[in-house]
Amino acid sequence: MTTNEPSLGTAYNPFDRHLENPYSFYTQLRHEEPITFSPCINAYLVSRYDDIRSILSQPDIFLSRDTLTPGITMYPRTIAELSKGCPFVPIVVNADGANHTRLREPLQKMFAPTRIRTMEPFIRQIATRLVDGFINDGHAEIISQLAYPLPLAVVLTVLGVPQKDMQEIRRLCDDWNALILSPLPEERQVAHAQSLVALHHYIAQLIEQRRSSPQEDGITDLLDAHMPGEEPLSQEELVHTIGGVIIAGYATTTNLIGNGLVLLLEEPTRWQTLCEHADHIPLAIEEILRYHDPVPGLTRTTTREVTVGGVVMPAGTKLFLLYSAGNRDETQFPCADQFDMQRKPNRHLAFGYGDHFCIGAPLARLEGRIAFETLTQRLPAMQLVPNQKLSHIPNLIHYGYQRVEVQW
Ligand code: HEM
Repeated sequence: MTTNEPSLGTAYNPFDRHLENPYSFYTQLRHEEPITFSPCINAYLVSRYDDIRSILSQPDIFLSRDTLTPGITMYPRTIAELSKGCPFVPIVVNADGANHTRLREPLQKMFAPTRIRTMEPFIRQIATRLVDGFINDGHAEIISQLAYPLPLAVVLTVLGVPQKDMQEIRRLCDDWNALILSPLPEERQVAHAQSLVALHHYIAQLIEQRRSSPQEDGITDLLDAHMPGEEPLSQEELVHTIGGVIIAGYATTTNLIGNGLVLLLEEPTRWQTLCEHADHIPLAIEEILRYHDPVPGLTRTTTREVTVGGVVMPAGTKLFLLYSAGNRDETQFPCADQFDMQRKPNRHLAFGYGDHFCIGAPLARLEGRIAFETLTQRLPAMQLVPNQKLSHIPNLIHYGYQRVEVQW
């Protein structure tokens, strides 16, 4: 196939046409053009489960280096603005080889499952406080009132970032997210670049404070965390790592909670089942992750000529691995388009696979479980406000709703 032939890949537009419900398009891709070129993101789309897993199993051939720069064009003014911030260096998610291991190690310690388990009472406390804040209102916009503040408060606490700055941090991080993952008009792109620079300065200042006065927190731990014989993280690596962990820690889990709540409430028997059987929540969360994956896809880049699904690709070719499409692959998941809260096994790709497997998976699962346990226990009569228009945020690698109105 050449890039000039009309193809399904040519039709792909994750910011518009395939934003709200991409799943029938994904089915068509898997059946007709499992590897196809998308001019919109300048990458081959990979939609079959086995192809995605095979690529993720070969990190020496398929690099992560372009994961955070997946083809959004920056205006010269945006680039000039960004030059006022901290120079870009790879962090864990877009590093490869030994550098990836070096950058991953300290975060793996920070989010180790044994450490995360001890956080349950604290996370429950935050969830309870948030629900206390709206339970007497009879209604809530659940994204802003629970789905984002819960995981953001948790990740800020782990790192030691002041909670009082939470709203401003969310604004800056959301702008950063949109800057690198959504096509924006020039003025907004420049404004978002200014937000990113402001975030860099804010984090650099926190690092300076910890250098002069160490605390018992994640930022202090990162300052001199390194493996024997390896360099500690540089100032640039610290700034980008801390920013990256904040975003990875809330944007994804916000969408797990938001996407999950819509799936559970749009079919009231699902909600009722979880209200009566809280022990079904962990399996339901896995199915939410599979069915409406918060991270629909990520980029890999070839290091050498390689054939994928019969298509020959030269070195330097970008591939966009559609985890969301792989998660609906009928060869791996029987009745893949059915939402089945009891599905087992459920080897979904929502947390990736292989060397870059999500470090925050135990935390995300715990936060999701606590959110749904708290809501089903305290608000069993919850329902979606009828006739609201649910719409997704246009973003290449995050799939979630702008707002979700609920009532009881
Ligand atoms: C439902 C919530 C979450 C989802 C769906 C999710 C998804 C993912 C995925 C798909 C990857 C793999 C990246 C790749 O293949 O290149 C990843 C990596 C990562 N995630 Fe998560 N994530 C979630 C929550 C979290 C949380 C709560 C944190 C931390 C607080 C976190 C931190 C990370 C980090 C640091 C990496 C990079 C790992 C590496 O490249 O070695 N994630 N996540």
